[in-house]
Amino acid sequence: MPKRPQAHTTGPGLSQISVPPQPPAPDIPTALLGNLTPAQFMRQYWQKKPLLVRQAIPGVTPPVSRDALFEMAGEDAEARLVTHFRHKWQMQQGPFAAGDLPSVRQRAWTLLVQGVDLHNDCARALLERFRFVPDVRLDDLMMSYATDGGGVGAHFDSYDVFLLQVHGKRRWRIGAQRDLSLRADLPLKVLQHFEPDEEWLLEPGDMLYLPPHIAHDGVAEGECMTCSIGFRAPSADELTTQFLYYLAERGELSARSSAARYRDPQQTAVQHPAQLPDALVERVEAILAKATWNSRHVASFLGTHFSEPKPHVVFEPPQRPLDEMRFIRRALISGLRLDRKTLLLYDNRSYFLNGEENRVSGLKKWLPELADKRYLTAARFLTLSSDSSVTALLHEWYCAGWIQIGAHA
Ligand code: SIN
Ligand code: CO
Repeated sequence: MPKRPQAHTTGPGLSQISVPPQPPAPDIPTALLGNLTPAQFMRQYWQKKPLLVRQAIPGVTPPVSRDALFEMAGEDAEARLVTHFRHKWQMQQGPFAAGDLPSVRQRAWTLLVQGVDLHNDCARALLERFRFVPDVRLDDLMMSYATDGGGVGAHFDSYDVFLLQVHGKRRWRIGAQRDLSLRADLPLKVLQHFEPDEEWLLEPGDMLYLPPHIAHDGVAEGECMTCSIGFRAPSADELTTQFLYYLAERGELSARSSAARYRDPQQTAVQHPAQLPDALVERVEAILAKATWNSRHVASFLGTHFSEPKPHVVFEPPQRPLDEMRFIRRALISGLRLDRKTLLLYDNRSYFLNGEENRVSGLKKWLPELADKRYLTAARFLTLSSDSSVTALLHEWYCAGWIQIGAHA
């Protein structure tokens, strides 16, 4: 996979952040949430009801320019093009080469690019503001570009979303309807009937929070860019499948079963070889009934599963890595930060780094600190630098491309 150049243009507003971005503290009112505290927002709105916030981020500019977004859609970012030409919905999957996209002068089309935070530090910085919700729930930052009249049709999502207007205007209509049946004749999810009960025109800096299953339709008024901060809400089926797979892969299921493999010493000769024997069903049922687990297995699974980088994520180790001494000297001047693609979670027994669990006897304070803040200042690194096991570990992460020198990008 070709390496992504770091040349994507960034909007001036977010690129000028001079301190590492921080999520708002739970009990401090924030403009981002209409002067509610994150704690109040979570209690009153999260997963419950929509919230419109005027000027959530005043003066916001797109974290990625239009041209840079088009460039991303031609590379390894997941991209979709939705057109609504002559009242006909169509959808195409990327990548899109320069000539594949319609002209920006043509009405009614939208380009959606998923996981922009994985490719751009300003987009990652924007996502940081939403870390009053646990990282395991945070999915990605999707960006859309639309020409006048563009949108993706009236639909609902199964997850929570913050829709932040970053350029131009978009008219949103929403409805809490029960009938969520979809049109079967289309290549994208469009509701059969849409009964909006509220409508707003969002301008740059305005934001709309929607809990799952609220019907919505956003139509661009002129050229428009929207950032969707999306959360993940795996289904019970998905979690169960992944969890059982996790246990089986580690031999945890057979370890608890009396027979590690199916056996049938009592099997008699049969006249109907194609028939599934009742006894076999009973024996397998008994094996399955012995599958047990505890909360430690569940925590290990969740930490591993939710810190697993998405498919296609490729870390970029430094081309000429500094040796450990030079690395320490540089970190003592500039500090360190997690790479924007790194996922680092922890609980009281383990830390989970990019899909791997590492059990530790008593987590040292710096690890949860780095995981929560995603950076270590030079001053904080100085306090750790006398412990050679810590500097060796951080150097290893640096060589793998999991952390970067510099407390902020
Ligand atoms: C968009 O940004 O165009 C669509 C976002 C959504 O409706 O979920
Ligand atoms: Co939606």
